[in-house]
Amino acid sequence: MIKSIRGTRDLLPPDTDLWNRVEAKVRDVFARYNFREIRTPVFEDTSLFARGVGEDTDIVTKEMFTWEDKGRAASEKSQSVTLRPEATAGIVRAYIEHGLDKRGALQKLYLIGPMFRRERPQKGRYRQFYQINAEIIGPPSAGSESPARDAEVLEMVATMLDEIGLRAWTLQLNSVGCAADRARYNQALREALKPVVHLMCADCQRRAETNPLRVLDCKVPEDQPIIEKLPRISAYLDDACRENFAQVRAMLDAVGIPYTINERMVRGLDYYTRTTFEFTHGDLGAQSAVLGGGRYDGLSESLDGPKAPGIGFAIGEDRLILALHAEGVKADESLDAYIAPLGAGMNPHALKLARELRRAGVRCDLGDETFRLKKSFEAAEKAGARYIVIVGENEAKSGEFTVKNLSEGTQVSVFRGKLAQHLQHAQ
Ligand code: HAM
Repeated sequence: MIKSIRGTRDLLPPDTDLWNRVEAKVRDVFARYNFREIRTPVFEDTSLFARGVGEDTDIVTKEMFTWEDKGRAASEKSQSVTLRPEATAGIVRAYIEHGLDKRGALQKLYLIGPMFRRERPQKGRYRQFYQINAEIIGPPSAGSESPARDAEVLEMVATMLDEIGLRAWTLQLNSVGCAADRARYNQALREALKPVVHLMCADCQRRAETNPLRVLDCKVPEDQPIIEKLPRISAYLDDACRENFAQVRAMLDAVGIPYTINERMVRGLDYYTRTTFEFTHGDLGAQSAVLGGGRYDGLSESLDGPKAPGIGFAIGEDRLILALHAEGVKADESLDAYIAPLGAGMNPHALKLARELRRAGVRCDLGDETFRLKKSFEAAEKAGARYIVIVGENEAKSGEFTVKNLSEGTQVSVFRGKLAQHLQHAQ
């Protein structure tokens, strides 16, 4: 038997009902916040991610699915391409390529789709996973640098999670400052690590050299007391970044969105500036981040684009679904009715009735005239229908149908014109 590849999985009903409910809800929220959909290719030029996400990140150094795409004709050059490990770099590439900055207004874009990272698979961590991304990006003259955008994005995430029905989320907030702040902070970390790094794990010893900020990410219990004593990023923010962060927090306070400042939260991508955040959920184990995001004010320029500050986030849809399961949230996709033709020649009548009902918005399934009554009842139950509607010769002639409530066992006669309403509303 051929099986799905390690780290990938099939999403099957009834699970997909919940996926669809989540996606319908987020599209509805996006529309209310004036976000529009963008779809970018699932593979891109490898250098987009190397330059956009960062040469030294785990994603670029060890997690990308990259291959050399040989040109088909002699004139076509071969090219290194990569399955997208995240969406922000591709969205900013599209923003630059199509001159979206020339539209003047802020671009509020969302993208829903699969991402690919060659990570060690475990609960909540897959090699193909799905993200719901949102980005606000535009020229500074359109207000793209304003902390009001950070607050709007965070408030939207909170609304989205609330409306989806997720309850136990926590917002972890931080500011990583601007590039100059981070350079000074990195230097301070390097110095503070020098006398203690030999006591730390091998990963930390390597990170202390290459990218000291990543030491804050370490989960090894023995290293934690050392990390707790390291300098904090907040002490290295310049006045403008400090003021910016204070404004974001004041707006969150004004709308009553609770948050925890987590100065150890360093995101795994290099493009972040100023506000960064994660929404975590206690039932997810080690992979507790349901979503992550932040500001990326220099990303467009690093990809040869115009100055285009932006902020956004990506919900890990797989993890969101796991968290919803943990809270007992289910999609209500139950079937209203099962239409059971009874006797030879009744299939056309049953199809006609099913067509009327389906067009009136009733969810129904349709049986077959060769089924005996007992088999129709069994099929209706297996399909999860609330009602069974019998379509026999008498019913077709009289226009009055026998409707049985399958959970209660009660039976009534309903006229054709009243049937749709009865099946949708009566319990
Ligand atoms: P990220 O933190 O790398 O950020 O990913 C965002 C979310 O995707 C994570 O919080 C997690 O829920 C989910 N995720 C990541 N890797 C996996 C995996 N292997 N399996 C399952 N879920 C996963 C970004 O990707 C940024 N592009 C977010 C962003 C948008 N920042 C600004 N705009």
